[in-house]
Amino acid sequence: KTICYTVGRPPWYNSHGQMKEAFLIGLCGGSASGKTTVAKDIIDVLGVPWVVIISLDSFYKVLSHEEHLLAEKSEYNFDHADAFDWKLACETLKKLKEGKSVQIPIYDFATHSRLDKQKTVYGASVVIFEGIMTFVCEELLELLDMKIFVDTDSDIRLARRLKRDISERCRDIHGVLKQYDKFVKPMFEKFIAPTMKFADIVVPWEGENKVAINVIVKSIKKQLEKRGFNFRADLITEHEGKPLP
Ligand code: C5P
Repeated sequence: KTICYTVGRPPWYNSHGQMKEAFLIGLCGGSASGKTTVAKDIIDVLGVPWVVIISLDSFYKVLSHEEHLLAEKSEYNFDHADAFDWKLACETLKKLKEGKSVQIPIYDFATHSRLDKQKTVYGASVVIFEGIMTFVCEELLELLDMKIFVDTDSDIRLARRLKRDISERCRDIHGVLKQYDKFVKPMFEKFIAPTMKFADIVVPWEGENKVAINVIVKSIKKQLEKRGFNFRADLITEHEGKPLP
């Protein structure tokens, strides 16, 4: 059955009309490790509505003219923790955790800049926050209810990144390799790999790992039930307009 939307009381309100906290999952891993695929697999198996994926990429800082010129030559360090607007990321996730709606910046990798428009997220019961450095900021780490690290071999990550950056991010092979050697690889060792110790679950990943996804989903469902989410009662199908049996 296609689950399209909920009616009446959204699942992030309890029977007294009080807002429930959203369940916040941090998904960390090196560039092109498969974080988005892991997030989508979790959502597919979880099978509940009101789940959103928020990317740390949305919180890249706006560059000055000089920084922009460096970025064009693959000489700007986008893999340093200082490249992100942590204040905005924390504020946004705090609001989402409280079940509030937020405006998320939209990042354009081709031009290294934020677009003029933003995306509105109207609150969620489960938030998956994915990015290369989701475990770096202490304040943010404290907000996370579950921390998952996607562990992918560096050769696989480089091969994927080459393909992706050329086809989707308007880069050339020379620039991608230069940026990888100068920033992506050393910064992974400096900022990302050391945060693996904060993870509750480390997922070895080469494109799929059904066992890990099932374990993660089971754990999420358990935690949601503890918080009083009753998705089955809230779900309706598009045509019937009635709760699922
Ligand atoms: O999607 P992914 O997690 O790979 O995105 C993070 C990567 O994007 C970083 O490793 C960084 O080098 C790269 N990046 C880029 N150009 C930008 C912003 C980020 O190549 N303008």
